[in-house]
Amino acid sequence: MSEPIKEDIISLRDDSGNSYLVEIKDEHIKIKGVGVFNPLTTLSDTNFGDKITIGTKEFFVLPASLPERYKGMKRRAQTIQPKDAGFLITKLGIGVKSKVLEAGLGSGGLAIQIQNVMGKEGIHITVEPRTEHAEVGLINIKNGQKAGCYSENHIHIEGAIEESVSEISNHCNGFDAIILDLPEHPKAINSVAHLLQPGGRIACYCPVTSQVESAWIACEEAGLEIEWAGELIERKWGRAMKGGIRPVNGPFGHTAFLLIAIKLQN
Ligand SMILES: C[S@@+](CC[C@H](N)C(=O)[O-])C[C@H]1O[C@@H](n2cnc3c(N)ncnc32)[C@H](O)[C@@H]1O
Repeated sequence: MSEPIKEDIISLRDDSGNSYLVEIKDEHIKIKGVGVFNPLTTLSDTNFGDKITIGTKEFFVLPASLPERYKGMKRRAQTIQPKDAGFLITKLGIGVKSKVLEAGLGSGGLAIQIQNVMGKEGIHITVEPRTEHAEVGLINIKNGQKAGCYSENHIHIEGAIEESVSEISNHCNGFDAIILDLPEHPKAINSVAHLLQPGGRIACYCPVTSQVESAWIACEEAGLEIEWAGELIERKWGRAMKGGIRPVNGPFGHTAFLLIAIKLQN
């Protein structure tokens, strides 16, 4: 069943499974991998599920839902992948009413996953010291808004998290979840652990084991209880050349170590 396009943003998927996000506007644009075209005129009589040709390439026209936005997002800083984002969202209990603090924003890979599940009553504060990273992250967030994600209560703060504590607490001082994907966890934990409300959790995304250890110690020193630490390994399957389905050749999906700690008392 196909649906007429009403959205401000859609995705084009090529035969290799690549996704390209396209804002529907009446001007000629150039998208690497797609070509030069006018989205409004090219897509005006199109429904989701239609196949269109731009230049010499064919594309399926699809909604810009989260997997398409993740695949088609702009990237600068390394992003948190869906396997870890999904786990973090579940383990931290992030949902429509959650109050979430996230640093650093980076490319917004995690931010778009968080905003996909948040509603009107939630608050999402992101912090990022590097303007060039924030620019990319904020474009990806904006694309989520155009696709219908609720992020009116998103506040972005430019700066290092440990230097932004009073600005953060002006907006919210009782977070359900704090997520730290940055190089120096202890400094950040020391500065913001007191902003968690009882039952709130902090998660640290740690590419190397020394970071897990220092985050673990800092959480305990801040009076938090470690709830979970470890890693998620993803192993993808595909079609074998001579028939059958089997794990694909390629790297095992280690990305980083994750640590989750809970605040039990004030
Ligand atoms: C790996 S990136 C984050 C990626 C992001 N989680 C995503 O999924 O796209 C780490 C970011 O942390 C930022 N950062 C470094 N130190 C920071 C600090 N003290 N406070 C806040 N952000 C910081 C960096 O500039 C960088 O953009």
